[in-house]
Amino acid sequence: MDFVEQLKSAVDIVTVVGEYVRLRKSSSSRYMGLCPFHSEKTPSFSVNVSHQRYYCFGCHATGDVLQFVQEIEHISFYDALKSLAERYGVPIPRRSQYSDEESRRRGVLFQMHELAQENFRANLVSAAGEGARAYLARRGVTAETIEQFGLGYSDRSGRAIARLFDERGFARELIAESGLVSKRTDGSFYDKFRNRLMFPIHSEKGKTIAFGGRALTPEDEPKYLNSPETPIYKKREVLYNLHRAKDAIRKEDRSILVEGYMDAISVTAAGLAAVVASCGTSLTPQQVQALKRHSQNIVVNFDPDAAGGGGTERSLDLLLAEGMFIRIVELDGGLDPDEYSRQRGAEAYRARLDAAKGYFYWLADRARAQHDVRTPEGAVAVLKALLPALQRVSDRLERMAIAENVAGYIGVERGVVLETFRKAVADRQQKTIEPPHPTLRADEKGLLRVLLSGEHGSEELIGGLETVHVLERVATRRIYQAIRALHAGGAEVTFDAVNARLEPGDQVLLAAALLSEEAEYHQRDAAYGRHCFESLRRSDEQLRREELKARVKQAERAGNLEEALRLAEELRQIERNKTVGA
Ligand code: UTP
Ligand code: MN
Repeated sequence: MDFVEQLKSAVDIVTVVGEYVRLRKSSSSRYMGLCPFHSEKTPSFSVNVSHQRYYCFGCHATGDVLQFVQEIEHISFYDALKSLAERYGVPIPRRSQYSDEESRRRGVLFQMHELAQENFRANLVSAAGEGARAYLARRGVTAETIEQFGLGYSDRSGRAIARLFDERGFARELIAESGLVSKRTDGSFYDKFRNRLMFPIHSEKGKTIAFGGRALTPEDEPKYLNSPETPIYKKREVLYNLHRAKDAIRKEDRSILVEGYMDAISVTAAGLAAVVASCGTSLTPQQVQALKRHSQNIVVNFDPDAAGGGGTERSLDLLLAEGMFIRIVELDGGLDPDEYSRQRGAEAYRARLDAAKGYFYWLADRARAQHDVRTPEGAVAVLKALLPALQRVSDRLERMAIAENVAGYIGVERGVVLETFRKAVADRQQKTIEPPHPTLRADEKGLLRVLLSGEHGSEELIGGLETVHVLERVATRRIYQAIRALHAGGAEVTFDAVNARLEPGDQVLLAAALLSEEAEYHQRDAAYGRHCFESLRRSDEQLRREELKARVKQAERAGNLEEALRLAEELRQIERNKTVGA
């Protein structure tokens, strides 16, 4: 068995996918969940236990456990292999053929970040770190929290990291790519971070991939300096603290979104572990999707000054569009989550979180503060203020439900106003992009399932395939061709062998055929296979009759009577056979 197969048989796809997607068992061999590869509200992502494959009925994403890890982590085949092998304790063969330059480079960059991280942490406890320690103490950050978040300090020299990397003999090209040093005009390197409090930033799996460095004095600009994009740090995809928060997010089925590193740290220290921060950039769809894989519920606690500002609004729009259920926390006194939880206490902060209002009620309150809903004009104004956000809710039924609730909340009477409101909400233009997906015939699907089941007797059916001409016209024709080609070459017809011969589009069809709803209820034995085979052959005959009829007509029109008679005779023969056989 080659290593890939060995690994695939050692890990269970349900366990692996389950680390990223909340799965629910839907039948003896199937689990369902929200698809991590497209935006949706109702689960259409299925994981099939017996095939060890996933398939999304919505976006048709499909593959095995390795493809899943590749897609979801945006990593190469080799990295997926390595990552799974490490996680599940399958030893990788020493001289592996699955090595590539790209993953070697990434490996070195990870190593550099680990070294830098060690250096920063050591600095913080050294004499040089005294100022930074005092700063943290002033901000009420405990030793335990420092440890938990791996906080560190970059010294003033500007040479520590550059020298460290040089001593280790890393290639100059890779040092330059690390984002941890800058280049002087003479080509030498100096540290990017100097005299700053260092916050390591991790990938979802917990590898250090970047840093944020906070100035220790107000004069030092900018307040936060962050790593640039590198081959291992894609800002759009990373959320600060997600690797620590994800288990809590799943368990509590909600995440808390804050703006700053310090906010995430203080909120965690206040006993709320399910917190993440966007690292100073505005929220991206990739970040929201990463959160949604763990929970669809989110409590947003942005800085008070920013509320209603462009950035917050865009973030909320994005969350709505991705189908998240949003609640909003508003802290009084102009405090951010960090200040609030330290000044008022963890208990008080948790109370505010529990009291967080659903996004639409929060919007309604804001609008209500500006308009008198007891007058018809005021009520209309409030409803109008809510419309744009409501129209961003992608699910029609949900939009309607929210409209009802919010109208009730504002106290708008049922009647013309509510009717208009509901209509506007119902009429949102739904643009759903569905990839073209042909409907497969039950018999073509059924036969495929039997042929690939390895059941006794399927061999014989494969031999007969070439007599069924209709198989050259069905949507799955290239799959049948692949099966015949394998068989003709004396190879064993297995799922993987067939799949490997197909173009991506046909791979999707194959997955659809094997994993479709009815697949589980039908038998896979040879008798069922023969049943499908016969059904295809019958339609073959019908096809031939129709063709003959058309050709008879054609010959008649062309005045070729002889030919027309001959064809008509052939047709009669077939029809007679059919009656005899029936
Ligand atoms: P804030 O200015 O709210 O910082 O910026 P903060 O997290 O509350 O930090 P403290 O409490 O003053 O120490 C929020 C986030 O925006 C990014 C950082 O990720 C920060 O955590 N930011 C801010 C930058 O990237 N650069 C800056 O100059 C400022
Ligand atoms: Mn702050």
